[in-house]
Amino acid sequence: MDELKSKYLDLIAKASDAAALEEIRVAAVGKKGEVSLKMRELGKMTPEERQLEGPRLNALKDEINAALVAKKSALEDAALEERLKAEWLDVTLPARDRHVGSIHPVSQVWEECTAIFADMGFAVAEGPQIESDWYNFDALNIPGHHPARAEMDTFYTHRSEGDTRPPHVLRTHTSPVQIRSMEAQGAPIRIICPGRVYRADYDQTHTPMFHQVEGLAIDRDISMANLKWVLEEFFSAFFGTHVETRFRASHFPFTEPSAEVDIQCSFEGGTVKVGEGNDWLEVLGSGMVHPSVLRAGGIDPDAWQGFAFGIGIDRLAMLKYGIPDLRAFFESDLRWLRHYGFSALQVPTLHGG
Ligand code: DAH
Repeated sequence: MDELKSKYLDLIAKASDAAALEEIRVAAVGKKGEVSLKMRELGKMTPEERQLEGPRLNALKDEINAALVAKKSALEDAALEERLKAEWLDVTLPARDRHVGSIHPVSQVWEECTAIFADMGFAVAEGPQIESDWYNFDALNIPGHHPARAEMDTFYTHRSEGDTRPPHVLRTHTSPVQIRSMEAQGAPIRIICPGRVYRADYDQTHTPMFHQVEGLAIDRDISMANLKWVLEEFFSAFFGTHVETRFRASHFPFTEPSAEVDIQCSFEGGTVKVGEGNDWLEVLGSGMVHPSVLRAGGIDPDAWQGFAFGIGIDRLAMLKYGIPDLRAFFESDLRWLRHYGFSALQVPTLHGG
């Protein structure tokens, strides 16, 4: 019996998995196992022998069973331990690097302009980028023979052969939205229109597609003084410092009188600084809306008057954020975008800057 005991306890200790353990169980205490066969022999013994051997055999059987149960749970623990090691996940590791996109300076400045003008009561209006020549030119008091049409380096669409109607154009400015807004809303009106415009031009400060923000305010008694205040207010809010402006008499077909507006700046040290120095930089065109333009928009020029202006958004972005070359704006160079781009979570607001 001691032999059986040490044999099976030894085998159990060495069993490496549940299947091996089961084989040992069958061989020892299964129906035809060695220990079970020994128990059957009890029947042939004398009562005295049986009294001695019975408890010993039972004790052996219990001991083997207990060792099997203990080994089984030890094997299960080991297997779990193995899995925990293999499937270990360190949730304290830093997250994997993810490339986060950035907001393009044009989008940023577009939003900044919108926030500032919205605070002065201007709503945002929109119009199509492919425009009829009526909205882009005629309605703005630029007739077919007018030199402004030639000067604008307009992109024209094609008409099919035999179609004699004038071709549509890629709008050369955001001014046609003035007409569309007047038609849709009538007077009084106070809108800005930020948007894309197109001209066949390409050098360090010109790209065939660029951005403008148009402004239009019409009411019973709006004057150049209101225009000047609105623009000075805008530039000071936009550049975050008081900016002197200079209004120069000019000519646009859609305004009378017309003024080009310069802002105070310095070119010292090869960089432009706005709001200081003795130089001037032209940033926009403006004026009192021409009576013919009001009429084209369905508004009675004897009852209403107002101002309009058009600013280059890209130009503003270059000035505010010190970006020297306009062409790079539209080359989609990731290094440029990461350098000049803005966090998507930093939405421009008047209180946030
Ligand atoms: N549309 C003009 C341009 O693209 C800019 C402009 C000038 C807009 C005077 C205006 C304005 O509204 O009154 O050059």
